[in-house]
Amino acid sequence: MQIPDIIIAIDGYSSTGKSSFAKIIANEFSFLYLDSGALYRCVTLFAIENGFIDDDCNIDVPGLEKAIEDLDIHFGEGGTYIGDRCVEKEIRSLAVAGKVSPIATVPEVRSFVDRKLREFGKNKRIVMDGRDIGTTVFPNAELKLFMTAEPMIRAERRAAEMRAKGQDVDINDVLKNLQERDYIDSHRETSPLTQAADAIVLDNSYMTMEDQMVWLKKIIAERFGC
Ligand code: CDP
Repeated sequence: MQIPDIIIAIDGYSSTGKSSFAKIIANEFSFLYLDSGALYRCVTLFAIENGFIDDDCNIDVPGLEKAIEDLDIHFGEGGTYIGDRCVEKEIRSLAVAGKVSPIATVPEVRSFVDRKLREFGKNKRIVMDGRDIGTTVFPNAELKLFMTAEPMIRAERRAAEMRAKGQDVDINDVLKNLQERDYIDSHRETSPLTQAADAIVLDNSYMTMEDQMVWLKKIIAERFGC
């Protein structure tokens, strides 16, 4: 299937399989995949390691804002980098997951990440996933999906993913983290997680990746006549 040069924006709740689906879409249509959450996770790791956030999630906003000005975050071999350090493993830990949503409420952090995302996505043929891609980052994206699934199913998927990477996790901790992030993400003042008016909802609780691709291709065929 040949599809036109468009931006595909995928938003939705934590661990709904947005990034897995986005990677498969990118592969299928030769698009570039961009993981916006990885940038928030990098800023969070940086904030933890440099003392800009404490154990109670109090954030030194002016300090963090200044320090991230020149922070070099990019995607390379093996995943996400800060400068020349690959941080892919660290940013996926529960330690980072536990602090990323408070960090992502900070407007100064959001504008830093938005700038980077728009720069990364300046050419079309991209698929980007996150919480506010269809509403704030690329409000004119030609195709917007909003993904959701039952919380326990999401927790099981995420726990399995973390265990496969060698992390020892308790399903209840994972579930609690998802629910806390969903709450904070949906209730923050700046660019909260919300379904764009023109987004199409995908509840994949009982769908396989193949089912999702069949579903998507049908939508693309209808919308773009290809
Ligand atoms: O993969 P998962 O669904 O667990 O989350 P993620 O995409 O890696 O995003 C981690 C966190 O970053 C989210 O819980 C949000 O707090 C924040 N985020 C955001 O605020 N806006 C985005 N566009 C992407 C992520």
